[in-house]
Amino acid sequence: MNNLFLQYWTTENEDVRDIKSYLLISLLISVGGTLSTIYRNYRILMGNARVSLEVSYLMSFRLLHASVNSFFDRVPMGRILNRFIKDLNSVDWDLGYGSSFALMVLFNALFDIVISVYASTFHMLLFVFLYTFLTFKMQRKFMMLNREITRLKGITTSPMVQCFSEGVSGITNIRAFGQQAYTLRQYIGSIDEFQKNSMIGDALIRWFQLRLVFCNVLIFIPSIFLNIFFIRSDAGRFSILMRYLILLLTDVSEFMDEYSKTENRFVSFERCIFFANLAPEAGYKNLDALEAKLRHSSRPPSVKSDVWPSSGKLVIKNLKVKYRPNLNYVLKGISLKIPHGSKVGIVGRTGAGKSTLISCLYCHFDFYEGSIMYDGQEVSQTDLKKLRANITIIPQEPYIFHDTIRNNLDPLKKATDEEVVSMLKEVELWAKLDNELGLEGLIEQGGSNLSQGEKQLLCLARALLQKNKLVLMDEATANIDSQNEQIIQRLLKEKFEDCTVLMIAHRLNTIMDCEYILVMDGGLVLEYGKIKELRTNPASHFAQMLSRFDELQDNLK
Ligand SMILES: Nc1ncnc2c1ncn2[C@@H]1O[C@H](COP(=O)(O)OP(=O)(O)OP(=O)(O)O)[C@@H](O)[C@H]1O
Ligand SMILES: [Mg+2]
Repeated sequence: MNNLFLQYWTTENEDVRDIKSYLLISLLISVGGTLSTIYRNYRILMGNARVSLEVSYLMSFRLLHASVNSFFDRVPMGRILNRFIKDLNSVDWDLGYGSSFALMVLFNALFDIVISVYASTFHMLLFVFLYTFLTFKMQRKFMMLNREITRLKGITTSPMVQCFSEGVSGITNIRAFGQQAYTLRQYIGSIDEFQKNSMIGDALIRWFQLRLVFCNVLIFIPSIFLNIFFIRSDAGRFSILMRYLILLLTDVSEFMDEYSKTENRFVSFERCIFFANLAPEAGYKNLDALEAKLRHSSRPPSVKSDVWPSSGKLVIKNLKVKYRPNLNYVLKGISLKIPHGSKVGIVGRTGAGKSTLISCLYCHFDFYEGSIMYDGQEVSQTDLKKLRANITIIPQEPYIFHDTIRNNLDPLKKATDEEVVSMLKEVELWAKLDNELGLEGLIEQGGSNLSQGEKQLLCLARALLQKNKLVLMDEATANIDSQNEQIIQRLLKEKFEDCTVLMIAHRLNTIMDCEYILVMDGGLVLEYGKIKELRTNPASHFAQMLSRFDELQDNLK
């Protein structure tokens, strides 16, 4: 508007001495332009922030509720990291600004056309249409390839991220086995794959930009000829035409460039939306309501109730399960009755299905055949959140947060400091952890300032605080020495008295205090009964395992 006004001021008006009012109008136009630009940027910033908050919230929420068996076991960690790093960054920063910039230059270009036609003749429209048609055709061709290249770039970024993060976390093993050169080769290989696509992408952009310049010539030269030889515009109009033709060419090429980039950013957006729409695990009930609740609170609502479970009684009938529909059954018909408060030791060869049986109890699988009743309620019919909140699981690999001792033991802050300290005393860890910071003392990344056995004891203290009726331990004591093993045996008797405990162990002395023994083989129950009966029956599998174990121990002595 300022340019048009300047042209009017200098050519159309005789009285150029009235400088004040002209300057005032020019100032008003500038201030109006500035204010509208500030308003536009403010709206874009807020809108973009709202979209990226919503997308990242939904992505995180859905990811946290996705199935381990059908999602996490199949999707490489690098791909997940890449979505949260590169794609989300694109949504956070570029999507809003990019799209609005594309719109802005589009409007600029339309305005340039209007002014160019005003400054010369409507014949100009012919060139403008020809130019727009050609550039549009080229842009489509360019985008067809560019979209695929962007996808390939995205796909090849994941192995690079994966290789790097695995290399960093596995550095000790890599060095121990002298596999630095192999790891480096793998990493460089993944970079090469990414670079191939990246370079093709760059070449493609140059190809497109070069052709845009050729198209510019197509409109520029004829329109100058038309205006010089046929229309004979005055100097003011001709200078406006020249200026807006140059602007038109820049705006169109900027629009094409930004439009292509925006299309690519929408590929990132689409990838984020895929995560935001991930199917949750089958057993969640009222996930939408939970999602709405969590939006306004940083604490998850309590799902524990006084009504269920009142006991840790388990009844399993003809349980059959497979990891994927196209695989064979891993559990082939398991039936068990486990009374409340009993301690069951589970033994069996590697691959017998012990961990799988345990994971069925907390509904690791979307579907199983048969029935699992926990205190009279079918586990697949119970809300997954409620079910898992009422089961304590102590895995072989203890999970330790990089946080304070207190948050590691009681992340939801349900217990008092005294209770936490008393549990740490029970597992005989307090003497080691107690320093001037007390419960606020920090545990390093992955619990690196604790030994493996200490981490397991910490998990045990965490389990004790939860006071659940059902406790599942999968090789949870594998790294514990005989002194600490006694601590566990004592705790099993004293603290887990009122709970049902299922304990998988390869070292038979760990489960000798259990009342029941379950021997598994090939996904079936080989033997299930009271330990006293099985031990005294020399024909039982357990008695035979025990004698082999004793022999081994004797040989080692
Ligand atoms: N995520 C998985 N996907 C597909 N098959 C699996 C998966 N996990 C385990 N399996 C298969 O299920 C069978 C039982 O595995 P499971 O882990 O339950 O054995 P386990 O008795 O706990 O063995 P271990 O004593 O070695 O821990 C194995 O044959 C294994 O190949
Ligand atoms: Mg196992």
